[in-house]
Amino acid sequence: MREISNKNISIVGIGYVGLALAVLLARDNKVTAIDIAQEKVDKINELIPFTHDALINKYFVEAKNGARSFNIKGTTDISECAGSDFIIISTPTNYDPEQNYFDCSAVESVLRQINDISGGSDKKPVIVIKSTVPIGFTENIRRELNMDNIIHSPEFLRETSALYDCLYPDRIIVGCNEETSESARDFAELMKNAAEKEIIDSLIMSFSESEAAKLFANTFLALRVSFFNELDTFAESKGLNSANIINGICKDSRIGDFYNNPSFGYGGYCLPKDTKQLLANYDKVPEQLISAIVCSNYTRKSFIAEQVIERATDIGGDSGEIVIGVFRLTMKTDSDNFRNSSVLDVMEMIRTKGFNMIIYEPVLPEGSDFCGSKVVNDIEVFKKQSTLIIANRFDPVLDDVKDKVYSRDLFKRE
Ligand SMILES: NC(=O)c1ccc[n+]([C@@H]2O[C@H](COP(=O)([O-])OP(=O)(O)OC[C@H]3O[C@@H](n4cnc5c(N)ncnc54)[C@H](O)[C@@H]3O)[C@@H](O)[C@H]2O)c1
Repeated sequence: MREISNKNISIVGIGYVGLALAVLLARDNKVTAIDIAQEKVDKINELIPFTHDALINKYFVEAKNGARSFNIKGTTDISECAGSDFIIISTPTNYDPEQNYFDCSAVESVLRQINDISGGSDKKPVIVIKSTVPIGFTENIRRELNMDNIIHSPEFLRETSALYDCLYPDRIIVGCNEETSESARDFAELMKNAAEKEIIDSLIMSFSESEAAKLFANTFLALRVSFFNELDTFAESKGLNSANIINGICKDSRIGDFYNNPSFGYGGYCLPKDTKQLLANYDKVPEQLISAIVCSNYTRKSFIAEQVIERATDIGGDSGEIVIGVFRLTMKTDSDNFRNSSVLDVMEMIRTKGFNMIIYEPVLPEGSDFCGSKVVNDIEVFKKQSTLIIANRFDPVLDDVKDKVYSRDLFKRE
């Protein structure tokens, strides 16, 4: 296999995925990081850490003080991708509830711009779609735009450890056809060379198989979360100890003692949208399980909301006098965003029953209003003002008020 490094690489869309890839690849290649957000681009050029990813921040600091060689340039001008060997696209693909499909317009518009820029040139870049897309998207867009240099490579990183996951990936998948198989192998080699893990499986498959691998992987994770959540719903309803049952199941090495901690529902940017997209892709293909995974999450959130309302009502008094404190809107303790966080839907369900809520969320400004609830970021004031506290993930800071905390974080480890 050829050694692939020292390449000109452009990355378009510098979010969680794009930034981690940019930092990964800038160690041995020349990276142009392209985004429409001027603020992000400026921070990249000045090497100012701006994420909650400790490893990315460390690399920025080391690059700034000269301890690390790092070839990265930020820009908002997409024409700067001209002459690149690889152009990686990692723009958002949000789920559009009206279309019941991903909105891939950002990926499409970037591809059209790249086509205009590099269309006439002799040297064609390898264009890699890293965004999660519907099954069939890559083939269709290649045909529609008459661009035969597009391949697909799904990304599996986690937001809270994005760079680490790129350095130590479980596998690299690239989707291609016969004509692009060499480009696919080159891209897999580029990613392997950039990683620190010694042995990495690279799996080359068709465009649609690679798109499907991503959606099925996330749907499997959602299934696992839903399974332990439904177990927990059952145990709580019947007065059983969920942790005992989960331990009893997960000591079985075929099942495994991980990713089994009950929560208020699966959430975050990817699982809710990717499960819905996979369901949409099934279309007329027979299925029972995929739709059940999507429905199960709603059922879980409704159950949690009912439990909270029951406890709040037990406390007594008029619902107007009860203050439900929401401890963090993020899905995980170390996350810096709450995109599609399950607690948001739980809050909405509680709000419709007329309960007042306050929120402890340091990501939001103190005193601000979030969907009709006030942000109280002085933790002592928050604890005092809350009649009942709900926490998707428990935190030791709540130890002294744990009697008024409702959480299903049984293992307090993730
Ligand atoms: N976040 C994750 O954990 C994760 C993991 C695997 C895959 N993915 C997939 O990767 C894709 C990107 O996700 P993300 O979380 O990094 O998104 P993000 O919202 O964090 O970042 C997207 C970036 O793209 C920029 N952008 C939007 N339109 C643009 C355009 N036309 N030109 C240039 N830049 C543009 C935005 O300003 C933003 O900086 C999605 O398809 C997502 O499903 C995400």
